[in-house]
Amino acid sequence: MTTTFGFIVGSLRHGSYNQLVADTFQTLIPAQYATTKLAIAQLPYYNPDLETDDPPVAWTAFRAELDQVDGVLFFSPEYNRDTPAVLKNALDVASRPRGQNLWAGKPALVVTTSPGSLGGYAANHSLRAALTELDMPTLQQPEAYIGNVLTHLKGGEPYTPDSFEAGTMQFFGVIVDAYIRFFEQLNK
Ligand SMILES: Cc1cc2nc3c(=O)[nH]c(=O)nc-3n(C[C@H](O)[C@H](O)[C@H](O)COP(=O)(O)O)c2cc1C
Repeated sequence: MTTTFGFIVGSLRHGSYNQLVADTFQTLIPAQYATTKLAIAQLPYYNPDLETDDPPVAWTAFRAELDQVDGVLFFSPEYNRDTPAVLKNALDVASRPRGQNLWAGKPALVVTTSPGSLGGYAANHSLRAALTELDMPTLQQPEAYIGNVLTHLKGGEPYTPDSFEAGTMQFFGVIVDAYIRFFEQLNK
């Protein structure tokens, strides 16, 4: 059976740098693996009161999609030194109902990107804390803080996965290789 990696981006912004980094990582995943984008913008805010026999359709669809992936790669901005609400909401939605945490056991990668110099460090670690509770084994090294993202890009907009400088692409490749090794070790 083909292994599938789910890509989740914590920015809804048109022209998002995190989306660009995610798209670029997707081009680096070896061909024997499948990849899929897991959209999160459509998910109503998590509310346990809606956890009835007929929960929101968007929750059910997202949970079913997540259930099909073997590993999850997160790409996120930092909002006020934390994980953006839209991403945290997606984590909450698929962690319930109690006892049906769909994140559990799926190997994760956390990449944060910012135009600022800290590279989303605080959001990266806030997200990692949630992934601990969600029981997702998470790649520890290399850590992936893509700071000053504009300085890693050649030319102007519209940016594409070909826009990153060679040295940055090499670093991205090191992260992808480490994640794949980590994933395979866990799935031996
Ligand atoms: C509400 C808000 C809060 C932000 N807080 C931070 C922050 O704490 N740290 C940071 O590095 N950038 C912060 N930024 C700037 C984002 O890093 C920047 O907008 C970035 O481009 C967002 O990622 P995206 O391009 O993928 O949408 C913030 C932006 C917004 C809209």
